Amino acid sequence: MNIIQCNDSKEVALISYRIFKEQLIKKPNSTLGLATGSTPILLYNELIKGSQLNEISFKKVNIFNLDEYVGLNSEHKNSYAFFMKEYLLNFIEIEDNHFHIPNGTACDLIEECHRYNNLLSSTKIDLQLLGLGENGHIGFNEPNTSFDSTTHLVELTENTRKNNSIYFKSINDIPTHAITMGISNIINATKILLLAIGENKAEAVYNLINGPIDVKFPGSILRNHPDVTIILDKEAATLINKVK
Ligand code: F6R
Repeated sequence: MNIIQCNDSKEVALISYRIFKEQLIKKPNSTLGLATGSTPILLYNELIKGSQLNEISFKKVNIFNLDEYVGLNSEHKNSYAFFMKEYLLNFIEIEDNHFHIPNGTACDLIEECHRYNNLLSSTKIDLQLLGLGENGHIGFNEPNTSFDSTTHLVELTENTRKNNSIYFKSINDIPTHAITMGISNIINATKILLLAIGENKAEAVYNLINGPIDVKFPGSILRNHPDVTIILDKEAATLINKVK
């Protein structure tokens, strides 16, 4: 595991941008796995700038997002489909049918998990971007999710709902369920890039790097992957540095 420590979130974004740029130059028709949440926003700004400067192009790229809330359609401002439009897709040139995300309003959610999983099985993600939950989740794979899991319906933990409540008017508006890529889908990516920003991630980062590889802490599985880069700001690296 390659661990890069940065001074601040801006530097995290710039270094991650370089990794994306390298990937897209090496393989213009790359398949990217992308995440939502506060962590990747500065990186998405850099990707937008890079594509406007013609340093990178998304014209041949396919994107698969990690997860989507159940019950929110793509026009709902809290859906992850909307998030992706607002923070990236509206500002880059990408084919409409090259962006993939689970449909959280499908009539048959189990069928939707199969559909998304079949799509994932028909491709190979070249570069998978991840954030990290305070409880160690990757995607919405909450603690005790099997490492063999594929795309599935998940009940969100209270901790995850609480942490995501800043984006909603009230805690009651936060969906209780989501569809997420499974851990085996994530691990199947050729290269994984995990970003963590802020002191509230310091314990999770410590556990990811030093704790046991255990389903109780889903992110720990990344230690078994041959090509993982973790990029941290100073705050997220606080505990790993104390131990050194
Ligand atoms: C988002 C996702 C989650 C987030 C994680 C961190 O698509 O799958 O695993 O990456 O919850 O969220 P932030 O970045 O908001 O701290």
